[in-house]
Amino acid sequence: MLKQKGFAELKIGRKVYKLPIIVGTENEKAIDITNLRRDTGFITLDPGYGNTGSCCSSITFIDGEKGILRYRGIPIEELAGRVTFIETAYLLLHGALPSEQKLKTFSSLLNKNSLLHEDMRHFFDGFPRGAHPMHILGTMFNGLSTFYPNIDALSMKEDIDVTATRLISIVRTMAAFAYKKSIGEPPVYPRRDLPYCANFLNMMFDSPVKPYVLDPEIVKALNLLLILHADHEQNCSTSAVRIIGSAQVNLYATISAGISALSGPLHGGANQAVMDMLRKIERKGDMDYFIDKAKDKNDPFKLMGFGHRVYKNYDPRATIIKQTCHNVLKRLKIKDPLLDIALELEKRALSDSYFVEKKLYPNVDFYSGIIYKAIGIPENMFTVMFALGRLPGWIAHWKEMVESKDRKIARPRQIYVGKGLRHFKRDEKAAAVVALKVKGK
Ligand code: CMC
Repeated sequence: MLKQKGFAELKIGRKVYKLPIIVGTENEKAIDITNLRRDTGFITLDPGYGNTGSCCSSITFIDGEKGILRYRGIPIEELAGRVTFIETAYLLLHGALPSEQKLKTFSSLLNKNSLLHEDMRHFFDGFPRGAHPMHILGTMFNGLSTFYPNIDALSMKEDIDVTATRLISIVRTMAAFAYKKSIGEPPVYPRRDLPYCANFLNMMFDSPVKPYVLDPEIVKALNLLLILHADHEQNCSTSAVRIIGSAQVNLYATISAGISALSGPLHGGANQAVMDMLRKIERKGDMDYFIDKAKDKNDPFKLMGFGHRVYKNYDPRATIIKQTCHNVLKRLKIKDPLLDIALELEKRALSDSYFVEKKLYPNVDFYSGIIYKAIGIPENMFTVMFALGRLPGWIAHWKEMVESKDRKIARPRQIYVGKGLRHFKRDEKAAAVVALKVKGK
């Protein structure tokens, strides 16, 4: 709940301006500068938006200092392992866990909307061999705009559950089809008798010559990973979704922007980059080399899966994933040397003053790749898995933004530091070259 609690005073020259102080449910404080430029002529400058609240939201709460993450008020530790990803998606979208009846309706919509339009299947043929599945996914989402052109922010012509389930269901089908295409196997269609995660695994790994046997432990692990990725308030991709969506762009194209943002190695792409880094450490056999590299100010290398803009404490998702990693590997009787390297790297980094002083801890991406690898997901699909998990969060934020009465097109300002006024002066020689080209000489 938002409250206004007094004013902050801003003194510019001799003039004092009163800026409202607003306080959120968990006592998060902000200075409301909505009218700052109008009243003072000044704007604020905050590269990377580390001090800027872009909206008020009631979806997810994070306390980065204490390592707290809650969806709609419920601690992540209480959801993980107790509910399914689909129940979590419903919680994020509607603010409460579904009743039995509502869950049935939601699940049946997921089933109904799980097929990809057959004409879209041919799109996969146009991508070059080796194309990254995350970019295929983003392109396919943009393509969806042409099949469902009416889902724009203002009209909302259909029920949000229909829109949401179509997106959540289709993303899974597309991801599995993209994978099958990359390995040259025929696509496996969704099955009405299988729940969300089991259905995805079946589409990924079933084949006409080798039926896939579902392992409940793997299904459970996948549910957990997707739950942990389902939302994380105003991160880069969610902010992209809110910004693009604020221009009333079709929801599919909006989500495509979220997918693009998530693909970056500083964001969702970190899970794949972590595996790359662990393997390099294994090959070189010298962990200190990489730790020193990460600490070197003149080297762009960073410990992937470490650090976070908001968490200055252990990422609560990493705690759960680390434990799950041990359980899954034990259950599947897998010994992965990369896990030993990751554990050792964490131990060394957390006793190194550089990481301690900068409060750099393992984040959600540090251990997730090792579980994905253990359950058979190929590395170039790791970030796609993140997108599957994050989709309900993106839709929930889009819905919240669309329904907000304060909705405005997102349009930050800037401080111009380029050249001052100078007048047009033609370089006559260059102009002559251009003129010759136009004449085709
Ligand atoms: N390794 C080494 N040094 C680091 C690292 C790291 N992983 N992360 C931050 N630092 C240093 C950084 O160089 C800076 O040093 P200085 O103050 O001397 O300039 C200081 O710590 C503060 O870091 P920052 O870059 O200001 O932090 P940020 O909030 O801008 O960036 C981050 C956050 C996640 C982009 C960054 O920590 C990073 O690049 N980590 C590695 C990539 C990664 O794991 N990304 C996944 C993030 S979690 C999931 C998600 O959001 O998708």
